[in-house]
Amino acid sequence: MFNLKLSSGYEMPFIGLGTWQLEGKKCREIVAKAIEIGYKHIDTAEIYDNQKEIGKAIKGKREKLFITSKVWFEHLHYQDVLEACEQTLKELKTDYLDLYLIHWPNRSVAIEETIKAMKKLLDDGLIRNIGVSNFTINHLKDALKTKVKIVANQVEFHPYLYQEKLLEFCRKNGIAVIAYSPLGRGNILKDDVLVRIARKHNKTAAQVCLRWLYQKGIAAIPKSSSVERLKENIDIFDFSLDQKDVKEIDGLNRNIRFVNPVFSDFDY
Ligand SMILES: NC(=O)c1ccc[n+]([C@@H]2O[C@H](COP(=O)([O-])OP(=O)(O)OC[C@H]3O[C@@H](n4cnc5c(N)ncnc54)[C@H](OP(=O)(O)O)[C@@H]3O)[C@@H](O)[C@H]2O)c1
Repeated sequence: MFNLKLSSGYEMPFIGLGTWQLEGKKCREIVAKAIEIGYKHIDTAEIYDNQKEIGKAIKGKREKLFITSKVWFEHLHYQDVLEACEQTLKELKTDYLDLYLIHWPNRSVAIEETIKAMKKLLDDGLIRNIGVSNFTINHLKDALKTKVKIVANQVEFHPYLYQEKLLEFCRKNGIAVIAYSPLGRGNILKDDVLVRIARKHNKTAAQVCLRWLYQKGIAAIPKSSSVERLKENIDIFDFSLDQKDVKEIDGLNRNIRFVNPVFSDFDY
């Protein structure tokens, strides 16, 4: 598995396992299976209600894994962040997180207060990297004013939502982009262009989406509840999209979001 070097010096596997909507026994089985077939990066969040199951699945294998979790947007006051992290560590049965993200921006809490708590967790060794999620360029500018290193921004990113300006801003500021819903939640995989390019390389449309991200230096966390598709989604390192393919896929952008809850703040 190929790694992306974070600005902190830590390495994060390019492909991780998304676990939103994987719950209970199924979640435990899929995470265990994913680790068996080579996934080393697992993405969860306190809100997914699956951390205890993931804790069971990673037992005895923690050291070789990169685990990301996220603090919910209603828990961004100083003490709440510390408590949320403590609860997450307890559920995952681990001493530390590789990456801890502010799940959604919430401008009713000063970003300085939240970041101060994240820094405390970092200094105490409970988390190895601080990141954010669903942050726009303006949210990032506010966060960067604190001078605390933000290593990643996890955002929706796929051929129908090619966030070029955000990507450029992140690159310039040493912030890795992690693509969530990298397959457009499964909704874009019948696209004619993706299917044609996939055929040309003897791959699938899902693999083309993930390879397109990889070639842009973007990590991705596809979710699957099928072992076959789990295998498919990490099997993207043996082919290459040529410039023409990349240009065509870039041109598919429609600024479509498949994840846009009422509390999102994308207009900021
Ligand atoms: N930070 C945030 O706010 C945020 C928001 C959304 C998601 N996320 C994270 O990102 C992860 C991934 O995003 P997502 O779950 O929204 O969407 P996704 O990974 O883009 O797509 C998942 C969907 O695609 C299907 N699928 C997976 N692999 C496939 C393949 N090779 N061929 C065909 N279909 C395939 C899955 O079905 P099967 O399960 O049947 O395979 C599922 O329906 C989440 O699980 C979560 O960890 C974070």
